[in-house]
Formats: sequence, structure tokens, C-alpha cells
Amino acid sequence: MSRIAYVNGRYVPHAQARVHIDDRGYQFGDGIYEVCAVRGGHMIDNVPHLDRLERSLREMAMAMPMSRAALECVMRETIRRNLVRDGIVYLQMTRGVAPRDHAFPKHPKTQIVVTARNAKPHTTAMIEDGVKAIVQPDIRWGRCDIKTISLLPNCIAKQAARVAGAYEAILVDENGVVTEGSSSNAWIVTPEGKLVTRPPSNDIQNGITRLEIIKIAKELGLAFEERAFTLEEMRRAREAFVTSASSFAMPVTQLDEAPIANGKPGTLALRLRAAYVAHMDRQAGAA
Ligand code: PDD
Repeated sequence: MSRIAYVNGRYVPHAQARVHIDDRGYQFGDGIYEVCAVRGGHMIDNVPHLDRLERSLREMAMAMPMSRAALECVMRETIRRNLVRDGIVYLQMTRGVAPRDHAFPKHPKTQIVVTARNAKPHTTAMIEDGVKAIVQPDIRWGRCDIKTISLLPNCIAKQAARVAGAYEAILVDENGVVTEGSSSNAWIVTPEGKLVTRPPSNDIQNGITRLEIIKIAKELGLAFEERAFTLEEMRRAREAFVTSASSFAMPVTQLDEAPIANGKPGTLALRLRAAYVAHMDRQAGAA
């Protein structure tokens, strides 16, 4: 089956999908994006994802190019045309095409691209053994809360992880405090059994999976604290995991060359992962 992309009002074969060389996304990384999980052919948590998209647009002074209802239709249609069951739908908006000038064009026209694809399921080994992460310096800018397509520092960190045979890079600021993963939010369980993740700020992306896991943790009555934690705390944690639309909740059992706790996924990480998968399945079944 050939893939189909939605580009500015048209569904086109993926291989022929094009944007202009003067698109500000291409020139400056001047754009924003969203990634929604797709489960059983259905978009998961599309409401908070589109809320965050609208927030990113506002923060970037970009215009929403179509109604939210129309956008949801396009996302659903892109999922359908690509026969996606379990995977992701990707949505990107840029400030449009204009002669290269750092300042914003006077009359920008937001450009949209939507793609969707199936994803490889997480392997049994990933869940039963957990994954390795490495530590990388957080060299990003001061507005990491905006889901911008300018992802070069994240790409550099993820590439370092790849080279090290790791799943994720954990980003750490100049004070030795963990911000988040290169494409995920970071969590620990303290030696006392308290679940900890960093509160939303300009320093991290307020992950939609993160928000859902917080809700689940509260429903389960788990001891939970929203606060920053240090790299040293993460190294000494009872459990660690990362969350994102594509990772769900993924246990991290090795940080650099050292195991976290006994090097096996923790019970809370696995419990939260199972509850999050059930949350997705409920939406897939109910949608
Ligand atoms: N990344 N932090 C960063 C830097 C991210 O890039 C992501 C998601 C998250 C988690 O957000 P959410 O739970 O809403 O997926 C946190 C997506 C999946 C990506 O870039 O592909």
C-alpha cells in the first residue's frame, strides 16, 4: 500500500508530497507540531493534543488555518487512508512561505502537513527488561514548553543515545537537575516509594501522556509529587520511566552504564503502563 500525506488541502502520495524551499519551517524551523497515538485506528487523547496545538500556535503568534473540527476530520481521514491501526498521526504547521527574512512575514499563511503511520509494537524484552537511557546536557532554548519543530538539540541527544545503544537520552541542566527526555517526560520512584515528575514550566513539554499518567496515579491513590529531581536522585531511584505518545510509559532500567535499582522494571512503572494502555483501549473501543 502506498502512503498518503495531507498537504495544504490535498491528499497526495507520500513520495510526491512537497513544500516550497522558502517555507519558514524549512528555512528557520518556524513551526509547531503534534504527535497523537493511534490505537485500533482511533486517535488517542485528541482533545488535549489539539488544546496543546492551539496553545503552541498562540505562543508563536501563528494562526490556526482551519477549524478544529475540520482538522480532526483531516487527521482521521489521514489515519484511514493509510490503514493505520496502532501507530501515530503527525501534524505539522509552519508559518508559511515567504522570502527569507528573520522577521515574520506581514501576511503569513499557515501551512499544514498531516501524516500517519503504523508503529512497531514495543517488544516483550523492552517491557520485561526495560530500556537503557544515557545522560546528555540540556542545551535547548528557554521555551521548551512550545512544541516547535526546531528540534536540533533533541536530535543531537537522541543520536548520542542511538550511538550508545540506548533508547532515550535524559536531559540534565547545568545544576544537575533532570529536565526531561529528548522526546519524552522523565519520572522516578524515590527509595521511599513516591512517584515524582517535574511540574510544567518553560523548561519542559507538558506531555499529554504525562498528564494522563498523573490522573491515573491519583485515581490509584499512589503517593505522587510534582517537583524537579536531580540526576543523582534518578541514579539512586527505586524505579525510573519515561512517557510519551509513542513510548506510553517505558521502564528505564539502565542509566549510562549503571543499573537503576536491581536493573528490572519497577512495579509502579508496569502498573502505570498497563493502566495507560487500558485508557487507550477504552478510547479505541468507545470511539
Ligand atoms: N515527543 N518531551 C518532549 C521533548 C517530547 O518531544 C515529547 C513527545 C514529550 C511527551 O509528550 P507527549 O506525552 O504529549 O507525547 C515530552 C513526541 C512523541 C515526538 O516528538 O515524536
